Amino acid sequence: MLVVDDEDDIRELLEMTLSRMGLDADCAENVTQARRLLEENAYQLCLTDMRLPDGDGLELVRFIGERFRDIPVAVITAHGSMENAVSALKAGAFDYVPKPVSLEQLRALVKSVLNLPSKDSARGEPAGRALLGESQAIRQARDMIEKVARSQAPVYISGESGSGKELAARLIHDQGARRGQSFIAVNCGAIPENLMESEFFGYKKGAFTGADADRDGFFQAAQGGTLFLDEVADLPLPMQVKLLRAIQEKRVRKVGASSEDPVDVRIISATHQNLKELVAAGRFRQDLFYRLDVIELKMPSLRECREDIPVLAESILTRLAQESGMPRPRLAPGALKALGDYPFPGNVRELENILERALALIGGSDIGAGDLHLAPSIGPDGMMPALSGGEASLQDHLDRVEKQAILEALQKTRFNRTAAARLLGVTFRSLRYRMERLGLND
Ligand SMILES: Nc1ncnc2c1ncn2[C@@H]1O[C@H](COP(=O)(O)OP(=O)(O)OP(=O)(O)O)[C@@H](O)[C@H]1O
Ligand SMILES: [Mg+2]
Repeated sequence: MLVVDDEDDIRELLEMTLSRMGLDADCAENVTQARRLLEENAYQLCLTDMRLPDGDGLELVRFIGERFRDIPVAVITAHGSMENAVSALKAGAFDYVPKPVSLEQLRALVKSVLNLPSKDSARGEPAGRALLGESQAIRQARDMIEKVARSQAPVYISGESGSGKELAARLIHDQGARRGQSFIAVNCGAIPENLMESEFFGYKKGAFTGADADRDGFFQAAQGGTLFLDEVADLPLPMQVKLLRAIQEKRVRKVGASSEDPVDVRIISATHQNLKELVAAGRFRQDLFYRLDVIELKMPSLRECREDIPVLAESILTRLAQESGMPRPRLAPGALKALGDYPFPGNVRELENILERALALIGGSDIGAGDLHLAPSIGPDGMMPALSGGEASLQDHLDRVEKQAILEALQKTRFNRTAAARLLGVTFRSLRYRMERLGLND
């Protein structure tokens, strides 16, 4: 371990604490000394103060990021200085510890550093969970995932519907120090507003009618692990305030409880909406956005990774055939060509759905272009191209029926999508996908 601080007392205290944990520490008083020690020795962790006589902690974070990428750096920040903490995380710090450094926090930090998977083992992801593709855009996303997995910073994942945001969140969890702990995914748009607080923070027995025992919420369930806030833009404003508080204080209060309990969760959030625009429109709190969007990971749309379509299609087909115990069909060249030209508004999830449908409908062993039933795309003149074959008009008819049914369900439920999905007997996710495909989102 390398400890960098200009105050003798603090250096001694940190060194002693680490040594009680059975860890050896070297100490440096300033940036210059720290650099020299880093050149000469191999360290497992660097713990640095923010303000140093000849520079600052951020400089060290950047230096280590360039020269010694494998060494995690944690920054000690002044109490209440959130700006410093956020800029350190953005610069690539593993985590931050607020002053005065509590021994409990220091121990937790060191423990998670020692828990980091070695670089090579992180690559051996469990099969079926990998982000496939070799396009520039997917490679960049994969590199970014690998990098942020080795930190505790909050990550905000943006990207169109079906582009792999949840998959990315799981990979960040699986490749980081919290793997082995729980990964809790919460669809913020699917929880009724009046239940939100108790779903997130839990409740005490007797807090309200029907609360006949204490119950944990998502935060407690994710303790030590990762809390994935999916569709975070759907959180109502009052809940945004409570969430911000929980993240800031790293403490939560159960509904009906008189005191708060500490929680240690890593927050990953995602939405297919444009969060920055929502902030500008006053529909999402700026301060919460600032806390969630410390590091942004952009998942590319499938249109940006066209060259990956064949690889993705083949791997999805293999999985689907296996799951349904069918022989693996071949994709005819015409089908591949049609997929390559299709715009995929629903991205990889839409590709999965198209192939699943084709697999259910084909008679032979090949999937031809016609088996894909790709929705006709809008022409440059904004008009639907003329429908020719019987197949295309069948699809058109089915789309109209589906659209009608969805609109009716939405009207009956006063546009509550969760309730509409229930009425239609489909999942919330499936309803959202269908609405998107049919252009019903506006
Ligand atoms: N690059 C990829 N390689 C392999 N599978 C992928 C890839 N991208 C997405 N998928 C798969 O596509 C499906 C959709 O991905 P996911 O649920 O992560 O998308 P999402 O962005 O969260 O979508 P939504 O906005 O609708 O919630 C999943 O089954 C996922 O495993
Ligand atoms: Mg998702």
